[in-house]
Amino acid sequence: MTQRPYVIDRMISAKAIAARIEALCGEIRREFPSDQRLVVVGLLRGSFIFIADLVRELDRDLEVDFIEASSYGNSTESSREVRILKDLRGEIEGRNVLVVEDIVDTGYTLSHVIHILKARNPAKLRTIALLDKPARREVDFKADWIGFDIPDEFVVGYGIDYAQSNRNLPYIGKVRFTDD
Ligand code: IMP
Ligand code: MG
Repeated sequence: MTQRPYVIDRMISAKAIAARIEALCGEIRREFPSDQRLVVVGLLRGSFIFIADLVRELDRDLEVDFIEASSYGNSTESSREVRILKDLRGEIEGRNVLVVEDIVDTGYTLSHVIHILKARNPAKLRTIALLDKPARREVDFKADWIGFDIPDEFVVGYGIDYAQSNRNLPYIGKVRFTDD
C-alpha cells in the first residue's frame, strides 16, 4: 500500500473528550440500574482508549468484553459486508449490555454487530459511539449516545488509526493530505 503524505490538524482536544465522557456517563448511569452488573462491549480495535476512559468514569460494577468486526474489500470503499473476526468471551442473554464504538460512518459495522448481539436476547442493549459522521450514512442506524458529530473528514487519534498509525494521539485529529 502506498501512503500519501499528510499532516494532522487538531480537531477535538483531550480535554473536550474527557468533559464529554463525563456528561455521557451521567446519562448512561441513569439508563442502567446500578444493582445489575453491566457488560461493556468494545469493538476492536478503535474503541480501546474510549472504552478505557468510559469504564473508569462509569465507576460501577461492570464487566468488559470485546468483539472484533471487519469489512471486506479494499481500503477506500466499504463492501457493505461485515464479518465477526473475534466474538465475545461471555454470554449476554438476560444481561444489560453497552456496546462501545469509535466511529459510525456508513453504519454497516455497528448495525450488523447490534443485529447479532440482539439475537442473543440481552435484557437491555444500548450503543455509544465517540464520533458520528451523519453525512456518510448508508443504513438507517443511530447510536443511543454520540460523543461528537463530525463532518465527512478522515480522523485519527484516541484509538482511531490511519493505516494502523496514530492510535496513540491523545486527541482527535483530521488527516489532511499534502499532495492535493
Ligand atoms: P461503518 O461500517 O462505515 O460505519 O464503519 C465504521 C468503521 O470504519 C469505524 O469503526 C472505523 O474503524 C472506520 N472508520 C470510519 N471513519 C473513519 C475515520 O475517519 N478514521 C479511521 N477509521 C474510520
Ligand atoms: Mg472500527
